Amino acid sequence: MTYLPSDKRYDNMQYRRCGRNGIKLSALSLGLWHNFGHVDITENYRKILHTAFDNGITHFDLANNYGPPPGSAEENFGRLLKMDFAGYRDELIVSSKAGYVMWDGPYGDWGSKKYLVASLDQSLKRTGLDYFDIFYHHRPDPETPLEETMSALDLIVRQGKVLYVGISNYPAEKAAQAIAILRELGTPCLIHQPKYSMFERWVEGGLLNVLGKEGVGCIPFSPLAQGMLTNKYLNGIPKDSRAASQNSPFLKEDMLTDHKLNQIKQLNDIAQKRGQSLAQMALAWLLKDDRITSVLIGASKPEQLLDSLKCLENIEFSLDELTAIENILK
Ligand SMILES: NC(=O)c1ccc[n+]([C@@H]2O[C@H](COP(=O)([O-])OP(=O)(O)OC[C@H]3O[C@@H](n4cnc5c(N)ncnc54)[C@H](OP(=O)(O)O)[C@@H]3O)[C@@H](O)[C@H]2O)c1
Repeated sequence: MTYLPSDKRYDNMQYRRCGRNGIKLSALSLGLWHNFGHVDITENYRKILHTAFDNGITHFDLANNYGPPPGSAEENFGRLLKMDFAGYRDELIVSSKAGYVMWDGPYGDWGSKKYLVASLDQSLKRTGLDYFDIFYHHRPDPETPLEETMSALDLIVRQGKVLYVGISNYPAEKAAQAIAILRELGTPCLIHQPKYSMFERWVEGGLLNVLGKEGVGCIPFSPLAQGMLTNKYLNGIPKDSRAASQNSPFLKEDMLTDHKLNQIKQLNDIAQKRGQSLAQMALAWLLKDDRITSVLIGASKPEQLLDSLKCLENIEFSLDELTAIENILK
């Protein structure tokens, strides 16, 4: 089957400026952490990619270790890029990262220049891309000097292998230092990728202020708390869910405590009153802040994506709704 993208793909999406930088990202971006590995079904993830692009999602997020096995999400994305998106490279923002363990020995993890440059070269080979639009340092390294990690990011831009650079999982103070070093090197930090959702709010303790002040974009990952902030766990744990999956150790059944389920039910009631699904409300709740460039979602089925995309129909909250949500979350 030949894929022809919808010619209405830009009609309903919002594009938000990434901090004070030149590029805009689609308000929703698609991450390939789960569901795109060699263990997954090609026809399903191919449809997810088509659904995303047909609905205006221009940004696709990878990392060296996404799979399983690690590296396979990049390989599969690269294969589909060639097959379906070959004529659309200039409409796409593709990112990858390095920072977690990828190969044995002292050069396959953390934040040295050796690791970052070698890993980027591997990621380019796996995807078949000439360059990534964004390349991130995936997590701070407590041992490597920040100057070395940031100079590796500067280097790969100068080498033409990457257009923009970002950081992920950096706490506020370290992010401010990294942003300052990058600016001095002449390669400004485009974006920060932190974990942020109604259930995970550490960024509100300082990071968002740093990013707002410095004009750096923010793209929250796991904005649906890996599926907890949707209606999927309201009546138990479905067999085909991430919480039940053997492939993901990241969301375990015991994280769905009675307290969490009670919160999910109450949030779902508010979402229904707003005429939204819980997933739509959870995404809208992040997008109400204009320091948020895009929300980086995952999906195991195209239908989930179609549901989540409708969050854009209402990203306004009344004071009463915000107070009611705060009362549930506290
Ligand atoms: N920088 C980092 O350290 C880091 C870490 C983690 C993730 N990320 C990035 O963030 C991306 C997203 O992370 P995530 O997958 O955890 O995001 P998420 O959007 O919080 O969770 C996605 C999961 O929620 C469920 N879901 C999504 N939409 C739904 C809907 N409308 N209705 C019902 N269920 C729905 C699906 O779970 P089921 O599979 O159960 O159906 C889906 O796989 C990753 O792919 C990756 O690119 C980055």
